[in-house]
Amino acid sequence: MSAPPAIDRILFTEEQVSERVREVAREIDDRFEGREVKLIGVLKGSVFFLTALAREMQSPVKIDFLAISSFGGHADHGRPQGMVRIAKDLDEPIQDEDVLLVEDIVDTGFTTRYLLQTLAGRGPRSLAICTLLDRTVRRIVQVPIDFRCFEIPDRFVVGCGLDFKQLYRNLGYIAVMNPERG
Ligand code: IMP
Ligand code: MG
Repeated sequence: MSAPPAIDRILFTEEQVSERVREVAREIDDRFEGREVKLIGVLKGSVFFLTALAREMQSPVKIDFLAISSFGGHADHGRPQGMVRIAKDLDEPIQDEDVLLVEDIVDTGFTTRYLLQTLAGRGPRSLAICTLLDRTVRRIVQVPIDFRCFEIPDRFVVGCGLDFKQLYRNLGYIAVMNPERG
């Protein structure tokens, strides 16, 4: 099947993504040594990555989701930057649990920092981050990244959960988007 016209070029194929997710799942399993892990996904971008990761993990896994909305700051690639709040909270407490925050992409770092601070305040046993994509060239606030699948260049990307105006999340590959044809 041919790529939609808005796709400029494929950065990572579906096979490359699956292989990398499998490797990172092994790294995570090694870290938790058979303990239960609570995966926390950020709606909606991390859903595809979270389920793929969970399927590859051997550790006993629980999942929960939260949703955020960003506001304030200047618009960038059409996304507001800077302030973040929780629009839908987790269903369950995370006290004394080993928590892994699962992100689609860490870009400026604002979202991740806010989520880490919020989750840390709820008394987890441990708290780590796993991100599908890391765009360190755009980082504004420093956040510790425990596990990451790919570092990417400073281009807007879609696929594997990442959207442009809510489209393209279901692409199996990760692609650079041409906004003029989006
Ligand atoms: P941050 O707070 O700047 O790190 O941005 C995080 C959020 O911006 C991500 O969770 C995505 O939803 C969105 N985002 C950042 N870069 C991209 C991109 O290249 N494509 C799609 N969404 C993106
Ligand atoms: Mg988005």
